Amino acid sequence: MQDAFKEKVLAGKVAFIAGASSGINLGIAQHFARHGAKVAIISRSAEKIAAAAKTMTDEGHEALGIAADVRNFDSVDAAFKAVHDKFGKIDVVVSGAAGNFVAPALGMSSNGFKTVVDIDLVGTFHVLRASFQYLNRPGASLISITAPQAVNPSLFQAHVCAAKAGINMLTKCLAMEWGPAGVRVNAISPGPIAETEGMLRLAGSPEAEKAIKARIALRDYGTKTDIADTALFLSTHNAKYITGSIIDCDGGSKLGDAGADALAGN
Ligand code: NAP
Ligand code: COA
Repeated sequence: MQDAFKEKVLAGKVAFIAGASSGINLGIAQHFARHGAKVAIISRSAEKIAAAAKTMTDEGHEALGIAADVRNFDSVDAAFKAVHDKFGKIDVVVSGAAGNFVAPALGMSSNGFKTVVDIDLVGTFHVLRASFQYLNRPGASLISITAPQAVNPSLFQAHVCAAKAGINMLTKCLAMEWGPAGVRVNAISPGPIAETEGMLRLAGSPEAEKAIKARIALRDYGTKTDIADTALFLSTHNAKYITGSIIDCDGGSKLGDAGADALAGN
């Protein structure tokens, strides 16, 4: 398939991606590397993040993997410092570390709720807040990975709904505060993305997958490349007037299907 972006559209740029040992965020890191960026990635597991970085260095790209827990501000700040020391600047930041499990609120301990809010929301604040002093600005682009649960109340997802709603508002607040410094702050809200841990946890059976696809306007899951292309666009000069936006990349899944079952008989 033809790539809509020039091969090296991120040449000379440095990207820092949090939560990128697997899934969507690793897909973004690999896409950025193939488009010319030097890439730094962090996650909790030293082993997993080293293996993820190796997928890029094996292709001849410059990539650095660092173990850091986004719940710990000092460890995030130290990672930014190490990346800045190595690459000399940071142009693009993606904050995508997350945790999820399916549980009713009454089946969730205080620590269960807090754990997800700490990783998703507090972790995103830590990543964006720590990044600021290391950013190459004006011109820097910050991107958080939110989710449809931020705006769609969802059964057994109270922790994720609360955390991702917070990310959406944080995105808008920081866009206002940091716009005068030439820093753009946006978020991407992926719909259901194939072959990810997130969808394995939310819809692990073929029946669940079929039911979800029937409610997506485009009738299919998205791919990691769909999200990576959206992040790539937000990282380029072409997106220079976009800030404070939550970009849905979801096949129209948020549009809903009220009345669809009744109309299907017509
Ligand atoms: P994933 O592969 O499990 O990615 C989550 C990443 O976060 C992993 O690399 C994990 O690595 C890292 N992580 C977890 N806790 C961390 C912490 N405390 N500190 C640092 N890193 C941490 O899941 P995914 O499905 O691709 O999801 C990626 C993002 O997309 C998430 O923000 C998710 O909410 C969002 N999203 C996904 C979908 C979907 O369809 N999958 C839809 C909407 C939104 P370690 O285990 O090594 O720490
Ligand atoms: N139902 C109810 N509570 C659960 C649960 C479940 N399925 N899974 C974990 N919890 C609770 C634990 O019981 C614990 O609470 P407690 O101390 O009161 O018992 C709390 O959540 C923290 O669990 P723990 O395993 O110690 O946390 P962790 O920091 O090691 O892991 C998770 C964080 C739970 C989010 C884990 O699933 C994870 O690491 N996820 C990352 C990958 C992921 O979720 N990817 C999808 C992204 S969309």
